[in-house]
Amino acid sequence: MDETTKNAHATTAIAADAPDASGALLRVDNLTVSFAGQKKTMVPAIEGVSYEVAPGEILGIVGESGCGKSVTAFSILRLHDERTTRYDGHVEVNGHDVFSMSQHELHALRGGDVGFIFQNPMSSLNPLMTIGQQMRETVTAHGSGLSKARIREQCLHALRDAGADEPEEWMGKYPYQMSGGQLQRAVIGMALVNGPKLLVADEPTTALDVTIQMQLLRVLMRLRDEQGMSIVLITHDMGVVAQVCDRVAVMYLGEIVESASVDELFAHPRHPYTRGLLEATPPLEGPHPERLSTIPGSVPRLAEVGPGCRFASRCPFVAEECKVAPIALQKVGDHHQARCIRLEHVSEFRKVIA
Ligand SMILES: Nc1ncnc2c1ncn2[C@@H]1O[C@H](COP(=O)(O)OP(=O)(O)O)[C@@H](O)[C@H]1O
Ligand SMILES: [Mg+2]
Repeated sequence: MDETTKNAHATTAIAADAPDASGALLRVDNLTVSFAGQKKTMVPAIEGVSYEVAPGEILGIVGESGCGKSVTAFSILRLHDERTTRYDGHVEVNGHDVFSMSQHELHALRGGDVGFIFQNPMSSLNPLMTIGQQMRETVTAHGSGLSKARIREQCLHALRDAGADEPEEWMGKYPYQMSGGQLQRAVIGMALVNGPKLLVADEPTTALDVTIQMQLLRVLMRLRDEQGMSIVLITHDMGVVAQVCDRVAVMYLGEIVESASVDELFAHPRHPYTRGLLEATPPLEGPHPERLSTIPGSVPRLAEVGPGCRFASRCPFVAEECKVAPIALQKVGDHHQARCIRLEHVSEFRKVIA
């Protein structure tokens, strides 16, 4: 990540709202992100990614480590280092084209209309400043003329929304004086402090124990319910998706391989990769099976896969026809898409998890 852009501040808000005609708050259209490789080549990390998030909707993006979830998330705010990154396609927030924004507009978007929560809270905290100092700075960077008392109230309010039990005390604390769960809550508070319409959370609970993870997921659900916030929740955990999300996009090796509502996806998973992820997820209720299955092998590097389906090397249903040419996403149901040409061979599979 580009440190200068991450920490940069802005003094103006982006232009007045011009919501997308489809009503989406976030629209990602055919997004390809490539990074500089050897000998001046540009190597794609994600390709042709499209999805939308409506106001008040929680979209889960799920997949194993290395599938391109963070690359996708960072692109929403153009957080990749622009000297070594090429973006193709479109990202629109509230009708505004993120890839044609000036640095000034981008800085207003970051921490303004869009809050971002990183997996590691320390990547968005300054260890030398108190939580209160950092939050106040975020407020003043996005709006001028507020009284000190008003700014403090806004910070306390955001911390309370993030589930802080003693927000006044937290304001005076340095990061090293707080636990992992408290830090992640402080980071959520910081992302909320300017009343964002969209929260992008990149594995916000992965490093935390199960109880604290559940508390934080409840915070996210409450923000959606009470404030109508839209959330993009990145996770490798299908259990988290089942508990929190409305819709889900499954990513494998830089592509979306299946997308549907959560109910539909868990009842009728179509892509063999989705099935593999579900079979590897412990049930939310009832006894845990003695052994959970795992998807054989690991995510290959993009350079190692052939011209056909990227999941071919690990797929139990693979056939020669899968290895010839790229597989397109196809409609397999109501608002349900899957990137597989062997669907009729992928036997009906049900698992009661949601
Ligand atoms: N800044 C970067 N430069 C080059 N390659 C990158 C960069 N960031 C991520 N990648 C590559 O993109 C792929 C997807 O990474 P990432 O989005 O972090 O996966 P995930 O979040 O799903 O674990 C990986 O192969 C990773 O090495
Ligand atoms: Mg990641």
